[in-house]
Amino acid sequence: MNDRSAAIPALELPLSARAPGKCILFGEHAVVHGAPELVLAIDLSTQVLVRGAAAFALNADPDGLEHNPYFRTVVERCWAGRPPVAVRAVSRIPRAAGLGSSSAFVAASVAAFGAASGGLSRADLARRSFAVERGAQGVGSPGDTSACVAGGYVTLNGGSGPVLWTLSDGEKEWTARRASDPGWTWVVAYTGVPRSTAEAVRAVGRRLGEPGGPELLAEFTRVATEGIRALEAEDRAQVAALMIQNQELLRHAGVSHPRIEALLEAARPVSEAGKLTGAGAGGSVVILPERGREVELLRRLARAGALTFVVRASPHGAEVVDPNDPAPLPS
Ligand code: PMV
Repeated sequence: MNDRSAAIPALELPLSARAPGKCILFGEHAVVHGAPELVLAIDLSTQVLVRGAAAFALNADPDGLEHNPYFRTVVERCWAGRPPVAVRAVSRIPRAAGLGSSSAFVAASVAAFGAASGGLSRADLARRSFAVERGAQGVGSPGDTSACVAGGYVTLNGGSGPVLWTLSDGEKEWTARRASDPGWTWVVAYTGVPRSTAEAVRAVGRRLGEPGGPELLAEFTRVATEGIRALEAEDRAQVAALMIQNQELLRHAGVSHPRIEALLEAARPVSEAGKLTGAGAGGSVVILPERGREVELLRRLARAGALTFVVRASPHGAEVVDPNDPAPLPS
């Protein structure tokens, strides 16, 4: 997936690109501070169609540059001084739910603009996507955008798989690696409570700066390191035990939420483990279902008021697709 044949080729407008959303299994928040993370690209995606136009627009909104900081930043950084384009974005990823809707939009847009600017290596696509997301959001790690660009399971600053790319924000450095896919099915449940990633990241940053903060970060590091090792060994029981520990640490960090706890509680009798995924403070939970009890799990979560998704790893990272593709969202 990281070879030359998988790079973004040079193409002319109009063109279309697609990128998957993501789900974090271990290490959200701590990864912002350089700790390890395990994240997978999921089989829900965002597709963008970019074509020349008389004026810039996003989904027919002529003020899209003003209204959407991700669109504005991707245009500023990847299309500066070029003629106006109209972008249409279609997504099956719920917004502000911790499932990477903004990273998928960014990765797909950077891929499209990269293709229309002479092509791009996959590592450059990952670096530019991180720069755009960070520029628009002000805070954050390259975990989300790396998963959306690479597809499959990805580790940041941990794991033993082949290196995909290295990234830096000038202060911190991250190494993204490929992790193998155990082929497991996950259930993601959205609480319906939207939240701001930037606010949650800043709040955890303050928490880690208080007394006990360094110890908490060390625990996040231990749990993610062991979790990555357990996933690589396809040790489901150990992955489950560590997910539960990770959720406990996220509670200590102050980013759980009564709706998150209610969904975890509803899932408990038919799941091996569950935790919040993403920034928390609302957003979604990811659950490792008890094998054979998936349907009951979905019923329980729906009764508890969640919007549920059964997800597996998407083997496809961000890619250019045929703009005439009659089925734009085949996930
Ligand atoms: O914005 P979300 O909810 O998809 O998740 C972001 C994950 C964090 O670790 C909280 C922030 C980051 O950029 O890594």
